[in-house]
Amino acid sequence: MSTPRTESHEPERAPDPSVRTGLAAWRALQSHAEAMRPVTLRQLFDADPDRGANLALEVPGLYADFAKNRINGETLDLFFDLAQQCGLRQKIAAMFEGQKINVSEDRAVLHTALRAPREARIMVDGMDVVPEVHRVLEKMASFATDLRNGHWTGHTGQRIRNVVNIGIGGSDLGPRMACQALRAFSDRGLRLEFVSNVDGAEFTEATRGMDPAQTLFIISSKSWHTLETLTNAATARAWILAGFGGDTSAIARHFVAVSTNTGGVTEFGIDPENMFGFWDWVGGRYSIDSAVGLSLMVAIGPENFTEMLGGFHDVDEHFRTAPLERNIPVIMGMISVWYNNFLGAQSQAVLPYSHYLAHFPAYLQQLEMESNGKHVTRSGAQLEHQSGQVIWGAPGTNGQHAFYQLLHQGTKLVPCDFIAVIEPLSELAHQHDLLLANVFAQAEGLAFGRSAAQLREAGSSAGQIPHRVCKGNQPSTTLLLDRLDPRSLGMLIALYEHKVFTEGVIWDVDSFDQWGVELGKLLANTIAGELTADPLPPMDHDSSTAGLIRRYRSGRGRGSIGQVP
Ligand code: F6P
Repeated sequence: MSTPRTESHEPERAPDPSVRTGLAAWRALQSHAEAMRPVTLRQLFDADPDRGANLALEVPGLYADFAKNRINGETLDLFFDLAQQCGLRQKIAAMFEGQKINVSEDRAVLHTALRAPREARIMVDGMDVVPEVHRVLEKMASFATDLRNGHWTGHTGQRIRNVVNIGIGGSDLGPRMACQALRAFSDRGLRLEFVSNVDGAEFTEATRGMDPAQTLFIISSKSWHTLETLTNAATARAWILAGFGGDTSAIARHFVAVSTNTGGVTEFGIDPENMFGFWDWVGGRYSIDSAVGLSLMVAIGPENFTEMLGGFHDVDEHFRTAPLERNIPVIMGMISVWYNNFLGAQSQAVLPYSHYLAHFPAYLQQLEMESNGKHVTRSGAQLEHQSGQVIWGAPGTNGQHAFYQLLHQGTKLVPCDFIAVIEPLSELAHQHDLLLANVFAQAEGLAFGRSAAQLREAGSSAGQIPHRVCKGNQPSTTLLLDRLDPRSLGMLIALYEHKVFTEGVIWDVDSFDQWGVELGKLLANTIAGELTADPLPPMDHDSSTAGLIRRYRSGRGRGSIGQVP
C-alpha cells in the first residue's frame, strides 16, 4: 500500500549544495561498507587478537568497549574524514559558544551552559548566561533543602511527604529516569511520583492514598501550553482545593512551577516567587539539568545534584577537546551513522543491565528520535539519506527472556548498546556477579554465535543443528561504569546527548526543533471538541477517522449520527 505524494506535501526547494551523499568520505564509506558486509566479527578478532584493548576508550569512571562493532582501522579513518568534511569540530565549537545552531527556531543550544562552572562566561545575545544559571540553581537548592528538612511545610504546617512532578516529554522523562537511576541516593522518607499522561488513570493512581496536606505538586512545562500538563495541573489544583474545602490560599504551599512562561504560571495561580525559570536555549529533551530537574534535586539533595552536573561537565569537556579518534561520543555517533546509513540497520537497542536504569531507553527515545527524526537538512532541502535512529530496549536480564531471541537468530541487523555497572548498589551483592556474567555473555554470544561445527562437537542431532545455529555478527558497544552514582549518571546522559549531536551534524539536520509533534497537538485539539460537542458539528476528516470518532461517541452515549465527511 502506498500513498501518492501530493504537491502540497512537497514545497519547492532549491538544490542543496552540501548534499552529504556526494561527499568524498560518504562515497568512500559506501564502498568500504560493501567490502565490510561479508566480514565477520570473528574474522576481525582473528586479524587483531588485541582488538579488545585496541578498540576500548576510557574516561575516569567509564570504560567504552567498541571492539564488538563491525569496524576496522579503515572504517575509523573514514569516520573521521566524514566528520571533518561535515565540519563536526566547528559545529561543536559553535554549540558551546552559544551560536544560534537551532536554525528553524533561531535559537542557541546551550544545555552545556547548565553545567558550566560559575567562573565560565557564555554569551547569548550579548549577555553572559552563567550567573543566571547559577542563580536558579541556588534557588532550587534552597527550596529543595527546605523541603527535605521540613522547613517548607504544607498549608496546615504539616511536613511534605509526597512530591508529584506533572510534566510530559522533556519535562518528565529526564527527572523520572534519573529519580529511578539514583534511588539509592534519594531521601526514602519522600514519595516521588510522576504524572505525564492525559489519561486520568495516571493521576488517580499516582495520588492514591496521598494526603493533600502532605503533598506538593511541581508543575513542569517549558512552554506552559502543553495540553497534557495543563490538564493534569488543573486536576491537581482541584484535588488540592477539594482537600482544603476550596480554600485557594492553600495553593501557595502545595504548588511550585518550572517554566519559561511567567505569565502562564501566574495566570494558573502560582506565585512567580515559587517559579523556577529556564531559558529558550534549553531544549525540553536536554533540560534535566535545568530547573526541570527540581524533583530530582528534591529527591537526591543539592549536593548530589551538583555532583551530577560535574559528571555532565566532565563529558562536555571531553567532547569539546578530545581528538576525534579518542572522543567517545563522537565514536558512538559515527558507529550509529555507520549501521544506519551504510549497513542498513533499522533500529538500535539500548540494554542497561541495571534495574536502576530501567527508564533509560525511554529517555533516550525522546533524546534521539525527537532530535534526529527529521526529513530535511538544516537549510530545508529534502534529505537524500536516512536520518534518526529508532531506539528501543529494556533492562537486562529481562529482555533476554523476551526479545533477545530475535537478536540471536532473527534476520535483522540490530546494533546494541550494553550498559553495565561494576559496583553493586543492591544489598544483594552476590546477585551482581550473575547480572554481569549475563551482560558479558550476551555481547559475546551475539558477536560470535555458535556454529554448526561447535554444535556437532557438543553432540547436537543433525536435525536440530540448523535450528540451533546462531550466526553471530550482531554488533554491540559495551559501556561499563565503575559505579552508578550522580556523577556517572551525568556522564552517561551527556555521552548520549553528544552522540545525538554528532549524528545530527553528519545528517545535517536541525537536532533541536520538533515541528512534527505540533501536527498531532493541533489535530487532537480539533478532535477533542468533536468528541464532546452536542450535536456533533460538521467534521473535516477522512472516513476512517470520522468513523472512529462516531464509534467513540456512540460508545459514550453521545450519539453516533454526524455529518459524513
Ligand atoms: O513532545 C513535544 C514537546 O514539545 C517536547 O519537546 C517537550 O519536551 C514536551 O513537548 C513538553 O513541553 P513543555 O515542557 O513545554 O510542556
